[in-house]
Amino acid sequence: MIASAILDLSFYFINFVRGEVKGMLQVNDHLTNQFISPHEREQMKNQLSAARDLLDGRACPGSEYTGWLDLPETLSEETIARIEETADRIRRDYDILIVVGIGGSYLGARAVIEALSHHFSLLLPDDKRGGCPLVLFAGHQLSSDYLHDLLDVVEGKRVALNVISKSGTTTEPAIAFRILRDRLFSNASDEELAKHIVITTDEKRGALRRYADEMGITAFVIPDDIGGRYSVLTAVGLLPIAVAGFDIRELLDGARAERKRSMAPLSEGFSAADRYAVNRMLLLRKGYHAELLACYEPSMRYFAEWWKQLYGESEGKDGKGVVMMSVDLTTDLHSLGQLIQEGPRVFFETVIDFANVKHEITIPGDPADLDQLEYLAGKPMSFVNRQASRGTALAHVSGGVPNMRIELPDRSLHSLGALIYFFERACALSCIMNGVNPFDQPGVEAYKRNMFALLGKPGFEEMREELLRSSSEDLG
Ligand code: PA5
Repeated sequence: MIASAILDLSFYFINFVRGEVKGMLQVNDHLTNQFISPHEREQMKNQLSAARDLLDGRACPGSEYTGWLDLPETLSEETIARIEETADRIRRDYDILIVVGIGGSYLGARAVIEALSHHFSLLLPDDKRGGCPLVLFAGHQLSSDYLHDLLDVVEGKRVALNVISKSGTTTEPAIAFRILRDRLFSNASDEELAKHIVITTDEKRGALRRYADEMGITAFVIPDDIGGRYSVLTAVGLLPIAVAGFDIRELLDGARAERKRSMAPLSEGFSAADRYAVNRMLLLRKGYHAELLACYEPSMRYFAEWWKQLYGESEGKDGKGVVMMSVDLTTDLHSLGQLIQEGPRVFFETVIDFANVKHEITIPGDPADLDQLEYLAGKPMSFVNRQASRGTALAHVSGGVPNMRIELPDRSLHSLGALIYFFERACALSCIMNGVNPFDQPGVEAYKRNMFALLGKPGFEEMREELLRSSSEDLG
């Protein structure tokens, strides 16, 4: 088993060194060979083909929310230019942008911004940040301590708000918006308020749309046919990403390229998204219930959060779905590593693998060699990181953890755009193959109803009585 894993991994690394792993996103699944046989993948072709037909033919459950499939092609030049102009204005006139939103209304922007920003951008002097405002986030929980501390750090700064909510009525961002508006802009005239705030919401419906229209506030539309977690390539993600100083056209180019590749007919072979979706489905059916998304770059942590939300909300229903987890490596090899290696055999691992780093650092020599690392003197850190990744994959495979690698040339806008489209498409295909609606989230309502009842929202009186009666604790 170990020998064949080494052979599989060597094949991958030889290709990698030869440069055959080039410019575009690839799924390398050699290290699933001991867990999935070629005929199993072949036999999934019919199911995959049916799922593709249902998705691309807009005939799957929830098909009214498949607008994202055609992004970025359906994003008009006018919309892109408007996003860029608004971002330029915010960059010019403000020190800080606070993005107010939750779930799909903030995770995509945060994922891309954190993946590409300086690791310590909060501590960088303004001139080293290229004159871009800091992008901070609020409205994604109900912690008053968080909001207090946020208000502390923005004091005396020029602050703009981008409030993002498709429904316009989600409790967490609505409360944050109310408080931030009150604390930051209580003395502002309506005209000033209309400059400080940008709203991203439904075209016609909802409280935010009404507020934007009444106040003459710049507003961007979340299209009707695109749900929150599939909306990062609309103004929802693009405006904050542009404010942070990133070229959204490059991100869109990456997504466009991946869309084209993933739409190629199945007769030309599995696309990367097909392959990932099929592998996940086969592994799930063999009892691998938990997927670990791993990356050896810590800036990808929020990308993993976006991925967890996308798959968790899309797949986890009707008693089905993969349990989504993420690990920062090598960091978490010193926490969850033991569990992955020897705990319950339910894990499979998906590694996001960038071929190149942005900045190479060489390990210096030290003749005293007290740390016994002299054999690494003169070697780049990326070499060490790569060997760690290689050794970990082999160890996990030998411990019974199937390993897939999503290979990308670099941590760039283009690569992330491709990765976003890839994950979205594979997610929808996985859901359809597993017989669930990829685009609804009925389970999210349960906590909301209880919370509203306990908060005393009008209309929930009966439920409140019931909850209080059935609860042995004092929930008041
Ligand atoms: O993916 C989804 O649909 C959800 O995660 C929503 O994005 C989240 O609940 C926020 O909803 P809204 O944008 O309506 O405030």
